[in-house]
Amino acid sequence: MEIFGNKKHQIILGDALEALRNIPDGSVDLIFADPPYNIGKNFNGHKDKWATEDDYLNWCYSWLDQCVKKLKPTGSFYVMTATQFMPFFDIYLRKKLNILSRLVWYYDSSGVQAKKYYGSMYEPILFCVKDKNNYTFNTNDILVEAKTCSKRKLIDYRKSIPTVYSSDKVPGNVWEFARVRYRMDEYENHPTQKPIALLERIIKASSNEGDLVMDPFSGTFTTCFVAKELGRNSIGIDLQDEYVKIDLRRLQLANEFRGKKLRKEIRTFETEIK
Ligand SMILES: C[S@@+](CC[C@H](N)C(=O)[O-])C[C@H]1O[C@@H](n2cnc3c(N)ncnc32)[C@H](O)[C@@H]1O
Repeated sequence: MEIFGNKKHQIILGDALEALRNIPDGSVDLIFADPPYNIGKNFNGHKDKWATEDDYLNWCYSWLDQCVKKLKPTGSFYVMTATQFMPFFDIYLRKKLNILSRLVWYYDSSGVQAKKYYGSMYEPILFCVKDKNNYTFNTNDILVEAKTCSKRKLIDYRKSIPTVYSSDKVPGNVWEFARVRYRMDEYENHPTQKPIALLERIIKASSNEGDLVMDPFSGTFTTCFVAKELGRNSIGIDLQDEYVKIDLRRLQLANEFRGKKLRKEIRTFETEIK
């Protein structure tokens, strides 16, 4: 296990379970975990496939337990996995945390479509908190337009003086964000990179500036990149040095990203931080 970074942003090259054991219990404000899904993806030569489904789930239960321990009493946890495994995560976690939302990240898929069944167009995300009476949720930072399909604004006649309904709302539990594809500015060479927009919503809603955000399966380190951009601290872990190198470059770019095109030519940053 190797650790890079500085006091605010720690990058750990190594196994998530081992790294998690070294992080103090009750120290993290927000965890976003996007593990391998056990569906055979190739992570830099490392096959995402366990011998049996039980092997996969037992491995997941070990790191899920660790994540619960690392969360502060006011902490929030977002976790993803494949649609077929999410029911197991849900049943396991509801005994340990409060599951507040079962989110669907929906996207249009231009890839090869299923012909004899209904192709998968979404990935599930659980949003859980330790204490349902005391957790961060920055409503005003994630408001979206409330579309009414009506030309005129809707009026709430239940009010003593009828008023126009607010045109902003907290997003519902179906989130539409484009998948990261080759040629998009944010694209990195990784099979399951998550979009910046998805992490922006999660980090803005469930953490404050200066909070500690952790991602035990960082991949292209989207979580740490966004955390840095939003003034949060971060810990990111991944098993593959190729992906850690992406992060070392991405974190240095974070401040320059906003409003600019991330061009390939500027990808010549040092791969080491003090
Ligand atoms: C689904 S991807 C995460 C993608 C990431 N959310 C992003 O936006 O790029 C899962 C990642 O977990 C890493 N991984 C697999 N097994 C691991 C382990 N035991 N410990 C740490 N990382 C691991 C893989 O290398 C892969 O990059």
